[in-house]
Order: sequence, then C-alpha cells, then structure tokens
Amino acid sequence: MSRVWNFSAGPAALPEAVLRIAQQEMLDWRGTGASVMELSHRGKPFMALAAEVEADLRELMAIPANYKVLFLQGGATQHFAQIPMNLVAPGQGADYLIGGHWAQKAAAEAEPYARVHVAGSSESTGFDRVPQVQQPDPDAAYLHFTPNETIQGTEFHTLPDAGDVPLVADMSSSILSRPVDVSRFGLIYAGAQKNIGPSGLVLMIVREDLLERAGQPMARIFRYAEQAANDSMFNTPNTWGWYLAGLTFQWLKAQGGLEAVGARNRAKADALYAAIDGSGGYYRNTIEPGSRSRMNVPFQLHDDALDAAFLAESEAAGLLALKGHRVLGGMRASIYNAMPLEGVTVLVDFMRDFAQRHG
Ligand SMILES: Cc1ncc(COP(=O)(O)O)c(C=O)c1O
Repeated sequence: MSRVWNFSAGPAALPEAVLRIAQQEMLDWRGTGASVMELSHRGKPFMALAAEVEADLRELMAIPANYKVLFLQGGATQHFAQIPMNLVAPGQGADYLIGGHWAQKAAAEAEPYARVHVAGSSESTGFDRVPQVQQPDPDAAYLHFTPNETIQGTEFHTLPDAGDVPLVADMSSSILSRPVDVSRFGLIYAGAQKNIGPSGLVLMIVREDLLERAGQPMARIFRYAEQAANDSMFNTPNTWGWYLAGLTFQWLKAQGGLEAVGARNRAKADALYAAIDGSGGYYRNTIEPGSRSRMNVPFQLHDDALDAAFLAESEAAGLLALKGHRVLGGMRASIYNAMPLEGVTVLVDFMRDFAQRHG
C-alpha cells in the first residue's frame, strides 16, 4: 500500500520527510546504538536534543525571552482544567469566548476551578463565525479562546481584544500554520497531534509572570511553575513525541519558516473553498467567509444521500478520512501543514469528477 492523501483531523498526517528520518534513525539514533525512545531523558544525548528542539521552536515562532516553552502530557483536554488550576485564584473569574465545540469543552472543564464567564459567543448563529468579545470581565484571570475550531471549521484571522487581561489560546489545530505575535498572548497551548507530531505531547508557551500566580491548591505535578523549573522533566516526559516535534520544527525551517508555510496554507485553503463555492451549489460550506478556517474545511453535498458514495469513492481514489465530524455530518478536509497543495489539487479534481458523474 502506498501512502494516501490523509485529510484526518487528528491524529493527522505528518510530513513524509519527518517519518523517513524517524525510520532511518529508529535503531541507532545519533550513534547511540539505541532508538531515542530507549534512552534516559536525563542523559546527555536527550538533554542536547531537548535544547535544540526548544531553540528551533523559539526561532520559528520568534518567542520572546520572557516566555517559557514546556513539553507536557495529558492532551489539550487535561490542560482545559489545569490552566484554570494554575492561573485562577479561588473565587476568581475567567472569561471564555465560545465559538464551537472545543471552546465549550474548555469552558466546561474550567468550571470546578473558576467562575466561568462567557465573554462572547457565536452559538446563536450556529457557530458559523468566530465570536466577538461582547461583555469582558476586567477582573478575569484571563480570556480563553480557540483560534481554530477544528470541528466547525472557523478561525480567528485577527486576535480578540482582551484589553489588559492575558489571552490564553488553545492552538491545537492551528499552531505553526502561520506567523503569530507571541507577545500578544499570556499562554498558548496545543495538543501535538495535528501540526506538531504524535498525540501524547502538549506544547505550551507561557509568559513567565503568569507562572508566579498561586492558582488553586494542587499537587506539584500539576503546577506549570514546577515543570518550568525542571525543564519539563518533573517526571519522565514523552521523549518520542518531543523528538518528532523536533524533526517537524526542522522541516518547517527547511520549508522557509512560518511566513512561507502560512502562504502555502492560504493557497491550499483558497483552492478548496474556490472549488466548493464554484460548484454551483453541489458542495456547500456555510461558514461566514471572514471566519473560514485554513486548516479544517467542512463541506456538505447538496444531497446527503450521496455522502456514502462520496466517501467510498474518495477512499478508493486514495483520499483518506474525509468523513465529517459526527456532530455535523457531511465532509471535512483537514489540510494541516503536512498536506501539500498537490494533495488538495487531487481532492479538488476528485470533487469535480464526482459532481459530473453523479450529476
Ligand atoms: C482545538 C482542539 N482543542 C482540543 C482538542 C482535544 O485535544 P486532546 O484530544 O489532545 O485532549 C482538539 C482535538 O483533538 C482540538 O481540535
């Protein structure tokens, strides 16, 4: 079986070049005679790798010196809870912008630790756009938002205005897809399994002053300041995920960095939306144009009785995982960094051909 064009929302396709290096290095990493998975995280080779990976990420994202980079576990979902544990004092409030499924989940997991306040929501229009800040709480510990809603297929193309309140962003499905000004955020976090590497790794970029907050009573293992003081090695980290993240960062640098990657992502998304909008109603994307995601493109066929044929035929054509999320139905093409324009072109050609054949 040759490799397919993989449109999975996550875990998602990794760059083939990254997988090939991992394959080559599997049995003997850097002359150690062992795979990276089999070595102590505290040994010299891994410590050196950890420093290189962080330096590459800092360069790619131009991360200012007053931010810590953490390599954590637990998935983004665990950090939905752990962020308020760390940043919200007992009895304090936290603002949430609700633009879809993942923002709702983040707010729900924060409930035990914070007075959750909805600062804005796009639920009344069926999450067809990103929410605006409507009623901010100036005393909130932070304003949390989801820059890219993986299921709904919406994306913030400008940052919400949080005033003096730190912005906390769940960038799971858009990190490294374009340049961002890290200095405008208090905390950025992302599950790795879309644009970074395998699941089981969470990347966090956090402004140092936020680590000094007392937060809630909690065990040391949950405290970000503790992980920061221990270079993300308070306990055994996900060394394999960390290594693959490093290979992805090197690949991104070789692609020309985030400006170049962002331009490619825009071209990919433009091509796919143009095919949908130009299909005379055969395919539809109902997201408000200014809020459309460049990473996750949901679309419906004009008649959902055709869905099964679309999925079977696309898979036979080597196009994997186009089935939409079970909540929304229809189709979804996730076109993260590792999906080249060529894969999007193959999809667009398939969509045209399918529409002609099934009229
Ligand atoms: C935006 C966003 N946040 C959070 C999650 C949940 O991540 P995890 O499964 O790593 O907890 C996902 C999906 O995987 C997501 O797309």
